[in-house]
Amino acid sequence: MTDLTLRHGLWSSRLAFVLAASGSAIGLGNIWKFPYLAGDNGGGAFVLVYLLCVVAIGIPIMMAETLLGRRGRQSPINTLRTLAAEAGAGGFWQGAGWLAVLAGFLILSYYSVIAGWAMAYILKVGGGFLNQSDAAAVRTAFLELKASPDLQVIWHTLFMLATLLIVGRGINDGIERATRIMMPALLLMLVLLDAYAMTTGSFQRGLAFLFQPDFSRLGGGSLLTAMGQAFFSLGLGMGSIMVYGAYLPDRASIAQSAWAVTLADTAVALAAGIAIFPIVFANGMEPTLGPGLIFETLPVAFAHMPGGALFGAVFFALVVLAALTSAIALIEPTIAYLSENRGLTRPEACLRAGLVCWLLGLGTVFSFNLWANRTWFGKNFFELIDFLTADLMLPVGGILVALFAGWVVESQVSEAELGSGRGYRLWRVTIRYLAPGAVGLVFLRAIGAI
Ligand code: PHE
Repeated sequence: MTDLTLRHGLWSSRLAFVLAASGSAIGLGNIWKFPYLAGDNGGGAFVLVYLLCVVAIGIPIMMAETLLGRRGRQSPINTLRTLAAEAGAGGFWQGAGWLAVLAGFLILSYYSVIAGWAMAYILKVGGGFLNQSDAAAVRTAFLELKASPDLQVIWHTLFMLATLLIVGRGINDGIERATRIMMPALLLMLVLLDAYAMTTGSFQRGLAFLFQPDFSRLGGGSLLTAMGQAFFSLGLGMGSIMVYGAYLPDRASIAQSAWAVTLADTAVALAAGIAIFPIVFANGMEPTLGPGLIFETLPVAFAHMPGGALFGAVFFALVVLAALTSAIALIEPTIAYLSENRGLTRPEACLRAGLVCWLLGLGTVFSFNLWANRTWFGKNFFELIDFLTADLMLPVGGILVALFAGWVVESQVSEAELGSGRGYRLWRVTIRYLAPGAVGLVFLRAIGAI
């Protein structure tokens, strides 16, 4: 298999992998989704269930994806095809690779639009518009942005271009270099914002909201939401980690890397909540506004605070950086596939894949204006894609990865990748029974089958 490692290249170190994979994990899911999902689902109780999903299911599946990637050394589609053939299993598994690549595509299409909003907000908030406006005007500004296809398309285009520019430069010069700079910057901004939140006077209340479980507010659908969010936030079930694993040097420890990435991702989600809730509470508002939390509620809060323009701009810069390092990971499985099977160079592959993804993104842009009244199964285009990917495709992708790594791949193979010992045995039991079982149950429950 050594010739395959040359095809795409390898990370220069384990740290490079951990940074890139953390970049994939840390994104809009942590800063935009996690706080509003926690807000909508009862705060602490949701956080607890989420943490359980992350540790019991997320880490084992992340290890499985990484080991499959490193063993196959190709895009998820070809990795699964090669490994299935090696194990004497059928072509069905290649389909799982396709599902993964498609999910990444769909997610990126709307991801880029939301990241575009955040880009617009760096300028809006940093430009001092908050200082001159009252709460109603700040709210109206968000509605105006959503109502304007033109503005959103401009930002969506810019964000997509930035993503493609990085990915087009390759593993080392593009992804590795970008994440090496952006991840420390992101951390610094987050620490700054947390410190700022401590000065609001509502810090305690924010913490209580995030960490005191109130199970009465945890609805039936919350379990699926928590699990879907765990997959989404860790970037699992859609081949990103698998393709990043394909570039991982042979000796690097997969278990340690998975723990490091998971800890980083969870810490950032919590730190984002710790920054956001006190700021919201300090201004007498409630954190239950759904997806509008950081674009509607938070800017109003910033408007009322000393230094709000500066810290608000830092906040949205943080969102954009986090989104960018995830967007790279969302499209990399496709780029790897196109360069393997279609003989395209990376820039060519980026151009084609980027164009299709950009077009799909228009559907999300329009769902807030031109297509506002069009619904499928009671959801607009954006909600439909979000539901299809986060709630359906990622968990299904996760089950397939778990089944494949646990039942199809020979134990000698997974043991050679993960190392033997108690940790390995625990992983194997989890990946064969617990992970597919738990995800399957929650999933069947959600679609109303049980
Ligand atoms: N994990 C990213 C986030 O939390 C999104 C993502 C999903 C990235 C799947 C890669 C793969 O925003």
